[in-house]
Amino acid sequence: MDIEGKVALVTGAAKRVGRSIALALAERGAELVVHYRTSEREAQEVLALAKKMGGKPVAIQADLAVPAELDTMVESAMRAFGRVDILVNSAAIFYRTPFPTLTEADWDRFLAVNLKAPFLLCRQVSEIMCRRGRGKIVNVADIAAARVWADFIPYSVSKAGLLALTTGLAKALAPAVQVNAICPGTVLLPDGSAPDERARAVERVPLRRLGEPEDIARAAVYLVESDFVTGEILTVDGGQRLL
Ligand SMILES: NC(=O)c1ccc[n+]([C@@H]2O[C@H](COP(=O)([O-])OP(=O)(O)OC[C@H]3O[C@@H](n4cnc5c(N)ncnc54)[C@H](OP(=O)(O)O)[C@@H]3O)[C@@H](O)[C@H]2O)c1
Repeated sequence: MDIEGKVALVTGAAKRVGRSIALALAERGAELVVHYRTSEREAQEVLALAKKMGGKPVAIQADLAVPAELDTMVESAMRAFGRVDILVNSAAIFYRTPFPTLTEADWDRFLAVNLKAPFLLCRQVSEIMCRRGRGKIVNVADIAAARVWADFIPYSVSKAGLLALTTGLAKALAPAVQVNAICPGTVLLPDGSAPDERARAVERVPLRRLGEPEDIARAAVYLVESDFVTGEILTVDGGQRLL
C-alpha cells in the first residue's frame, strides 16, 4: 500500500510510541486521525507537525473504555475524511498489578482498554475497509504477551489476547484487509520511573539499548506498506525475548 493520501487512525497518538507511528505515517503522506484521551495539548502538537507536512489532520478525544465513545470517534473520522484506510491500535494502559492485590476492577479495565477497545475498533473500521476493498490494521502488543510477567498478569493477558485477535482477524478479513501486530520490547519506561531502572532494563537487552519509538514506527510503516504479510507478529525488542 502506498501510504500517500491514505487515512490513518492511530489511537494514543498524542505521545510516545503512538505519536511516533502517527508522524511516520504523516511523513509518508497519510491523513491523520489523532486519537487521544487526556493529552489534548500534545495531540495539538502532533496536528501542527502533521499540518506542516501538508496534511489536514484531525484530533479526536475518546475514552477507549467507553464503547459509545469509540462509535463517535469512528463517525467523526468518517465525517472528516469519508473513509479509514489504516488503523493502528497503540493506546493502552500499563501499570504494576502484583497478584495478591490485583482487583477485579483492574482486570476489567486492562481487558476493556487493551483488548476490547481494539476489537471494537477493528470491527467498525474493518467494515469500512471491506466496503472499499482494502485496508491495513496494526495492533501494538508487547513481548509480555508470551513471557507473562508475574507482576503484570492482566496487562500480559490483554496483550496475549490482542495477538490472538490479530491472527483471527487476519483470517476473517482476508483478502481485503491485512491484520498484523508488533511486539515491542522495552522502549520508553513509564513516566516517573526510577533513574537506575533504565540501566537495569538495558542489561536485559542483548543489543544493549532500549528501543526508540522510531524503531516501532518503522515496523508499523513496513506492515502498512506490505501487501503480502498478514497475521504476522513482528517482534522489535533488540533480542530482549531471548534472555
Ligand atoms: N513503552 C514501551 O516500552 C512499550 C513496550 C512494549 C509495548 N508497548 C506498547 O506500545 C503501545 C504504546 O506504548 P506507550 O508506552 O507509548 O503507551 P502509553 O504512553 O502508556 O499510553 C499511550 C496512550 O494510551 C492512551 N490511553 C490510555 N488509556 C486510555 C483510555 N482509557 N482511553 C483512551 N486512550 C487511553 C493515553 O492517551 P492520553 O495520554 O491522551 O490520555 C496514552 O497517551 C502500547 O500498546 C504499549 O502497551 C510499549
